Amino acid sequence: MKPTLVQALTLCAIPTVFAAAVPLSSTTHQKPVAQIKVITEPEGALKIPGHNNATYGPVPKAWQLFKIEFLEIAPSPIPVNRIFFTLLRGEISLSKTKDPAHLDKLLTSATLTITSSAILLNGDHEDTKSYTVPLRTTAFGPAHLSIRNATAYVEHLSSSGSNDILVDYWIPGIFLRTGTWTFEVVAELEDGTCLFAMSLTQWLEGRAKR
Ligand SMILES: *[C@@H]1O[C@H](CO)[C@@H](O)[C@H](O)[C@H]1NC(C)=O
Ligand SMILES: *[C@@H]1O[C@H](CO)[C@@H](O)[C@H](O)[C@H]1NC(C)=O
Repeated sequence: MKPTLVQALTLCAIPTVFAAAVPLSSTTHQKPVAQIKVITEPEGALKIPGHNNATYGPVPKAWQLFKIEFLEIAPSPIPVNRIFFTLLRGEISLSKTKDPAHLDKLLTSATLTITSSAILLNGDHEDTKSYTVPLRTTAFGPAHLSIRNATAYVEHLSSSGSNDILVDYWIPGIFLRTGTWTFEVVAELEDGTCLFAMSLTQWLEGRAKR
């Protein structure tokens, strides 16, 4: 499923979209929907390196501060009722930073927003749900998130050197309705700068009927 412009805007502040949309509307007679497609479709197809089925988006890769080296998801596709792990490795592109001196401070209040939606077996749409958690070494619900640099476990991402974000999690099938699920994960700074944004669509089989 392609991310909508509205989703992209809610997840990260990206005024550039408007700048990009203006020349399109003045040179063509396409409807707004067509413009959105022109802007987001090529990005949606860009695969994230590593063993995963995720793509960059809804915020385009070019606007993401965190340069992803790889994302491993194991097992992949993600199972139901079983713990799975994700390991994201990368580093901050300092060349894209407006204010490197304050970046380490900003990184201590970074957040991670996970948005889920689904097209169910019967054609219904599952309501879009979003959760925001601090992007730091922490636990939320059944999940644990750990951050490491190249040599040690740490509390937050660092502006210099390699960063690992390791997550273990499980999806309980009892509450899950069967269908094609899309998960969007967006990490951002307090000022709205996007660290990384990724999208994963896959089939999940749950036991919830309603
Ligand atoms: C990616 O998705 C395809 C199609 O659903 C699947 O066959 C393949 O196993 C997936 N690969 C990974 C690494 O999840
Ligand atoms: C990793 O973090 C630890 C603890 O803050 C620090 O002492 C060490 O220098 C860091 N290592 C690297 C490679 O940045």
